[in-house]
Amino acid sequence: MKISLADLKIVVIFALFVYSIVILSFYFNYYLFGMIILSILMLMFLVPYFYGAPWFPSERAVVKKMVDMAKIRSSDAVYDLGSGDARILIEAARRNKKIAKLIGVEINPFAIMISKIFLKISGFESRIEIRRQNLFKTDLKDADVIFVFLLQKTNNRLEKKLRKGLKKGTRVVSHLWKFENMKLVRADERLKVYLYRA
Ligand SMILES: C[S@@+](CC[C@H](N)C(=O)[O-])C[C@H]1O[C@@H](n2cnc3c(N)ncnc32)[C@H](O)[C@@H]1O
Repeated sequence: MKISLADLKIVVIFALFVYSIVILSFYFNYYLFGMIILSILMLMFLVPYFYGAPWFPSERAVVKKMVDMAKIRSSDAVYDLGSGDARILIEAARRNKKIAKLIGVEINPFAIMISKIFLKISGFESRIEIRRQNLFKTDLKDADVIFVFLLQKTNNRLEKKLRKGLKKGTRVVSHLWKFENMKLVRADERLKVYLYRA
């Protein structure tokens, strides 16, 4: 694993944040509370950051725009690489009850746990599959639609996999970060949602 200067900055900021929580919880004698908050932060933020991106949920308007742009058909196999709490897949399933395949790929066990709760509440438990997997190891040969909200460095790395491993015509919808060498079909610069086609 390579650690860049940008990564180091994140670690330093995170370490300062953690340090403040430790000091505060010890000062006020809330040791257990401090330890729980720290463990959750580590699981949610720092660990997934080094695998590809921290867990940071998309805003509602962004989720809607991403699903709009993908123009999902019933026969489509849809993947969200780094699915977080599964909000994008839940929105897609709400709009079209017959989508052939809805798969979330997520590495963060805490996010998976939350997504399973949301799937249960929304009633889509049997229609959306959440895989605990590294997105770089996911077989995307059958994908018709792929959603991503990661980091620029992760998109750069993922782009090589996408350009080699996708069938022609697969739509890739990315939030915030672009793919430098893929064919951009549509862009919403206000919400920073970009549609690419393989
Ligand atoms: C910015 S969040 C986006 C979550 C969700 N897609 C959304 O839009 O709300 C990125 C997610 O990718 C996950 N992630 C990061 N690296 C990953 C990897 N290598 N494999 C699978 N998931 C990963 C993180 O745990 C996090 O949940």
